[in-house]
Amino acid sequence: MDRFDVAAEMIQAAGEVLRRCHLEQAEVRQKTGHQDLVTFWDKKIEQQLRHAILTAFPQDSIVGEEYPPEESCGGKVTWYLDPIDGTTNFINQHRNYAISVGCWAGDTPLFGMVLDVERRELYWAKHGGGAWLDQSPIHVSRCRDITEMLLTTPGLQYTFLERHPHQEQLIRLARRVRAVRCLGSVALELCEVAAGRADMFVTMRSSPWDHNAARIILEEAGGAVFTMDGGHLPLNQKSTVLALNAVELKDHIFCV
Ligand code: IPD
Ligand code: CA
Ligand code: CA
Repeated sequence: MDRFDVAAEMIQAAGEVLRRCHLEQAEVRQKTGHQDLVTFWDKKIEQQLRHAILTAFPQDSIVGEEYPPEESCGGKVTWYLDPIDGTTNFINQHRNYAISVGCWAGDTPLFGMVLDVERRELYWAKHGGGAWLDQSPIHVSRCRDITEMLLTTPGLQYTFLERHPHQEQLIRLARRVRAVRCLGSVALELCEVAAGRADMFVTMRSSPWDHNAARIILEEAGGAVFTMDGGHLPLNQKSTVLALNAVELKDHIFCV
């Protein structure tokens, strides 16, 4: 099996575990505070994914949310894993959470997979092969009029309420768009833009495991990702993220 097939098999198996699991409140822990949670299942799924990857490709490196990076000596392929993106949704709703698997050779994307676990829908893309939702091709929306656009952001607090250098810009943008939606999963929200159900996405805080799978899917679907300053989105650092349904929109959205 090649890496894509290993990923497809392991992500579906992990989804099955999460759909069947019963979360006990005692399995929920705070990380940096009451808005940053982890469960027994985040850790279990990441272990399961790491095991599947390293069994098949022991020379690969892994960057995942819940454990220190696994660095290979020699190999140049890195996997970015978020075992549950949207842990708060997993805890409170048992829906609207994803497993995210991105695979890169250095800074060249190989493929990205985002499983919407409860809907049993797999977003995926191989570099140069278009973007897909299960067996159907997906594409970003063609909307270019800001007043008709839907903006999605995972955390209202961080985007609009907390002080940061882009706060005023984003509040102005929120007034211009048709609506703002907040799903609570960076990976799923980037896939919403890829599938044309949202037109743009912003977040002030995202980590490599949050966005390095879905950014491949979004770019293959015709969209573009940047930092909030309009720069290149780094592969290995925490960053702001601005995702758009068209690269040229970057020069217009903050013009007012
Ligand atoms: C978080 C979710 C959330 C976003 C945070 C992420 P997690 O990931 O994507 O919507 O606002 O910035 O860290 O902790 O659920 O994997
Ligand atoms: Ca995440
Ligand atoms: Ca996570």
